[in-house]
Amino acid sequence: MTKRPQLNSLLRALALAGAAAFAVQANAAEEVSLYTTREPKLIQPLLDAFAKESGIKVNTVFVKDGLLERVKAEGAKSPADVLMTVDIGNLLDLVDGGVTQSVKSEALESVIPANLRGADGKWYALSLRDRVLYVEKDLKLESFRYEDLADPKWKGKVCIRSGQHPYNTALVASMIAHDGAEATEKWLRGVKANLARKAAGGDRDVARDILGGICDIGLANAYYVGQMKNAEPGTDARKWGDAIKVIRPTFANAKSGGTHVNVSGAAVAAHAPNKANAIKLLDFLVSEPAQALYAQANYEYPVRKGVKLDPVIASFGELKVDPLPLTEIAKYRKQASELVDKVGFDN
Ligand SMILES: [Fe+2]
Repeated sequence: MTKRPQLNSLLRALALAGAAAFAVQANAAEEVSLYTTREPKLIQPLLDAFAKESGIKVNTVFVKDGLLERVKAEGAKSPADVLMTVDIGNLLDLVDGGVTQSVKSEALESVIPANLRGADGKWYALSLRDRVLYVEKDLKLESFRYEDLADPKWKGKVCIRSGQHPYNTALVASMIAHDGAEATEKWLRGVKANLARKAAGGDRDVARDILGGICDIGLANAYYVGQMKNAEPGTDARKWGDAIKVIRPTFANAKSGGTHVNVSGAAVAAHAPNKANAIKLLDFLVSEPAQALYAQANYEYPVRKGVKLDPVIASFGELKVDPLPLTEIAKYRKQASELVDKVGFDN
């Protein structure tokens, strides 16, 4: 026998070792940096799952306020790959501020309906936050349109937080998009006239005040109901949650009758050093296991269809989302805020 086979196997071994060394090196470089305004306890399990599955290290920066300002200030040297936040207004501020870039992926486009992402790929919704009617649990009420909140029959029976809170300005913007500014102003005056108390506090306070007999109905986000109805028996939160039921309103004139949603979402940063990994992270966040985490740990409605929901959220039935693109709705944010002021909604 010649020495050739031995040499070959040696070369092969070397090649393998080389490949392994290269793989280790490549792995060491595999990372992605996420800037997020979302609560760590909410996001960390998702990121841990991604790191475990992909082998990509996730560097997370939790930014409480001023995400746009921070990324802007860092400029082209920003290490941020993915920017994540809540509220369509905040997402579009990032887009308009020029700190996101256009990306496309088959997963994102097939999972996220077109009305819930930027047509330019500059932002993507990851979870939905439907704004629903909290109703005193024994009240006989089967369906509800957002417009009904101004019906005089609810005089003194409505609770809601500040009209200037982003959750409400997004809803008012949506109403302008559907019904026009004039009708919306009239609606705001009607809702104000129906208030049982000053428009203030938080969304959970609507349930608290329904339990307290101050009001019968009010608008608030659905995920809080998941939190309250799943809270420990005997706690205040649980009592508030148990005092209410939920109806998903629609708009009177909407052709397909959907419910208003706001979103949590993300975008790839304009100067992302790890763009490919950024897209991988977004793809992961709309995958079945990640969406199940959004739905079950966080009670937000998954953007992906067919994901198992928390039983409380599932009990509200399937969410039919207002088909109007969020980008279209968001155009009226400023006008919405001005109308809220004009009618003295919060006074
Ligand atoms: Fe909230």
